[in-house]
Amino acid sequence: MNKKFSVVIAGGGSTFTPGIVRMLLENLERFPLRTLKLYDNDAERQGILGEALAILMKEQAPEIDFSYTTDPEEAFTDVDFCMAHIRVGKYAMREQDEKIPLNHGVIGQETCGPGGIAYGLRSIGGMIELIDYMEKYSPDCWMLNYSNPAAIVAEACRVLRPDSKVLNICDMPVGTLRRMSQIIGKTPDELEVRYFGLNHFGWWTSIKDKQGHEYLDQIREYVAENGYLTTVEVETQHTDPSWQQTHKKAKDLLAVNPRYLPNTYLKYYLYPDDEVSHSDCSYTRANEVMNGREKEVFDAARTITEKGTAAGDEFHIDSHASFIVDLARAISFNTHERMLMIVENNGAIANFPDDAMVEVPCIVGNDGPEPLAQGKIPDFEKTLMYQQVMVEKMVVEAYVEGSYQKLWQALTLSKTIPSAGVAKNLLDDLIEANKDFWPELN
Ligand code: NAD
Ligand code: G6P
Ligand code: MN
Repeated sequence: MNKKFSVVIAGGGSTFTPGIVRMLLENLERFPLRTLKLYDNDAERQGILGEALAILMKEQAPEIDFSYTTDPEEAFTDVDFCMAHIRVGKYAMREQDEKIPLNHGVIGQETCGPGGIAYGLRSIGGMIELIDYMEKYSPDCWMLNYSNPAAIVAEACRVLRPDSKVLNICDMPVGTLRRMSQIIGKTPDELEVRYFGLNHFGWWTSIKDKQGHEYLDQIREYVAENGYLTTVEVETQHTDPSWQQTHKKAKDLLAVNPRYLPNTYLKYYLYPDDEVSHSDCSYTRANEVMNGREKEVFDAARTITEKGTAAGDEFHIDSHASFIVDLARAISFNTHERMLMIVENNGAIANFPDDAMVEVPCIVGNDGPEPLAQGKIPDFEKTLMYQQVMVEKMVVEAYVEGSYQKLWQALTLSKTIPSAGVAKNLLDDLIEANKDFWPELN
């Protein structure tokens, strides 16, 4: 294992970049680096993190060639992996995605419902641009993408760049499995799961240890009382009070469908009225993050730069993001790691369309993911999933065709929106707010 890798992080100005960089530093023995670059299209934002990270890298890993740039050619030349986490429109637009729907009495959320659809129509162009840069300057490079909304981005990749080496992943199942493992006194590495669904829309059907003991009943009993709230905090992410509410709400998700263990994001589809009534349309999650994580990360960076040293720095290690290293290792060293990935169904869920982008366990090797068959799924889950996957497909069709009508239909089809009339009013507001980002719709 002498190979050393060259990595570019796209969305270098992301609040998650310092945590990922520190996680990469922690994992150098498993995944050695020769070059680490940051790429962003906002020089000022990325520069604040880049300057501080340059100090940290010089102190902790001077042998790694570290740089940051807004020049695509410099960023994407001679790279093995692009770790992508961009947010087209940044937090200002996340705020709009959350507040505009709430003003119509509808869920306002980053990836679910109309907010997710609006974000999707912004992300597609940015993601395709990244893929094209990658393929132009480093044709053998793989993109490990966790830019949201991952479901819509994955469908857009399937339609627009079907042969590109892009793998779409999400950290929610990883975080929730960590909680489940705490509930039963295990670690995530000791467990193997079966799962089916779409991104931010799925269910665990089995949680076993390597000896084959099934823990579903034991976890179900706990979740029926407490949701996924654990007695000790097991994550570095998903810890704010609003996230605690979300973990707790899994209790109500389980009540309506006790068969399987739910992904927390199902709350936006199964209890949208509760969510809307608890929301404050003048202060949403975007505001919480801007006043919380974003401020903390950028303040920490400024402090490092002022002091000229990262000793005693405040950047936390995003150790839970080490699944990104597991994925890069699976591709590079053909480890056949078992991971949940967002892939084209092609029979993995037997009674669901072949061309749906689904989230299922896969064995990952140097050709990419091989989905594991999850068999047939019950009608309740299948019906919900079909409605949602058609929303995601129609959003991508609306983008490709520039079709107002299709987008109106996609919104009307979303379980989060009560009527075609509300959908149309919302759409007109979203078009106005997104005019710098969306394609023209006719
Ligand atoms: P952020 O706004 O702090 O960072 C995003 C960065 O992307 C910004 O610096 C912005 O300038 C940059 N950017 C925007 N458009 C770009 C483009 N076209 N080219 C290059 N750079 C561009 O956002 P954040 O909260 O740190 O989140 C980053 C992304 O990661 C979001 O998409 C978020 O939803 C996603 N995320 C996904 C998961 C998952 O489970 N898949 C988990 C956490 C975060
Ligand atoms: C989870 C999801 C991500 C999402 C994030 C939002 O990790 O899997 O897809 O981006 O939550 O977290 P935030 O703290 O920004 O609200
Ligand atoms: Mn996610």
